Amino acid sequence: MKAWQKQGVGLKNLKLVDVEIPQPGPKQLLVRVKAVSLNFRDKSIMDGDYLPELMSKLFIPVSDAAGVVVSVGSEVTQFKVGDRVVSHLYTKWVEGAPSQEYAPTAVGGPNNGGLAEYMLLDEAASVMTPSNMTDEEASTLPIAALTVWFSLVEYGKIKAGDTVVVQGTGGVSVYAIQIASALGARVIATTSSDEKGERVRALGAKEIINYVRTPDWDKEVLRLTNGKGAEHILEVVGGDSINHSIEALALQGHIYIIGFLKSMMAEVNLFSLLAKQANIQGIYVGHRKAFDDMNRAFEELKIKPVIDKVYSFSEAIEAYQHLASGAFGKIVIRISE
Ligand SMILES: NC(=O)c1ccc[n+]([C@@H]2O[C@H](COP(=O)([O-])OP(=O)(O)OC[C@H]3O[C@@H](n4cnc5c(N)ncnc54)[C@H](OP(=O)(O)O)[C@@H]3O)[C@@H](O)[C@H]2O)c1
Repeated sequence: MKAWQKQGVGLKNLKLVDVEIPQPGPKQLLVRVKAVSLNFRDKSIMDGDYLPELMSKLFIPVSDAAGVVVSVGSEVTQFKVGDRVVSHLYTKWVEGAPSQEYAPTAVGGPNNGGLAEYMLLDEAASVMTPSNMTDEEASTLPIAALTVWFSLVEYGKIKAGDTVVVQGTGGVSVYAIQIASALGARVIATTSSDEKGERVRALGAKEIINYVRTPDWDKEVLRLTNGKGAEHILEVVGGDSINHSIEALALQGHIYIIGFLKSMMAEVNLFSLLAKQANIQGIYVGHRKAFDDMNRAFEELKIKPVIDKVYSFSEAIEAYQHLASGAFGKIVIRISE
């Protein structure tokens, strides 16, 4: 089969190669991959920034994949040939608390991912594709959507009427706008682009703040909430943005530490943090049970993924470059028809 392989750091070391089609173990599915979507994680892995020691081996990248089961191992009971499935990132985190060893079990680094004509999925880490989604749409679910769902629903117990701050218009944040709005929250979105601001308004965001013109966006959040602040803030920017998020937070509100688009390091104002009695929750996507719950909710709430652009299999490098320059929602690579 044809596969893209990470042979070193940097996109110049992402190579299209011929490899053997893998054979499923007793509890695995062999999947004909139809589509994958890119996450910032995939870019960081290629850049050598994301757990570089763990990612130093040769592997097929990209965590988010959707496809069709073409054969099953001898002990598989929950899936059959022809089922449409999506990957689940942390293959050993099925429900409840994660175990210590779950990070090295991830699909798409350090284990083989979906940027290939076929891939293996563990039965326990495979999820049925929602019936109302195409494979391209479903390929956007495993990381970006589940991260938001796990933050707001599993940890944050979001309620209708809560205020949610969402930063920028990348894959995670666009899902946050859609999910929070569908659950009845009031979304305040930041973006560097007025044009993108109008597009997120159409997705349900009630207030838009241009963070380039208004770098102290926290003050604007306080103004828009009559001084109360937001109950939930999805922090994808990282670095000193955390201090703005603390200022913009309602008393006892939740900040979900998700991303590091700007920096992985921050100097935090601890007094503001304690005065707000803030709940700071680190997020590492979520477990498979929540993925199933989310898919059912997406069908009910009629949430449709926002795809910026679909690339062909041969254009994988261009797709990564598009992600690096900032996408609106998700970037997808079509692997096969
Ligand atoms: N912890 C987890 O489980 C988890 C899961 C998924 C993602 N993540 C992390 O979350 C972050 C976002 O991921 P993603 O896939 O959504 O990325 P992405 O699609 O690449 O997001 C890019 C967008 O972020 C916005 N942005 C960039 N710099 C910004 C800044 N300084 N202030 C505000 N917005 C800024 C821009 O929006 P505008 O063009 O509108 O300005 C840009 O288009 C990444 O760091 C990723 O690694 C973590």
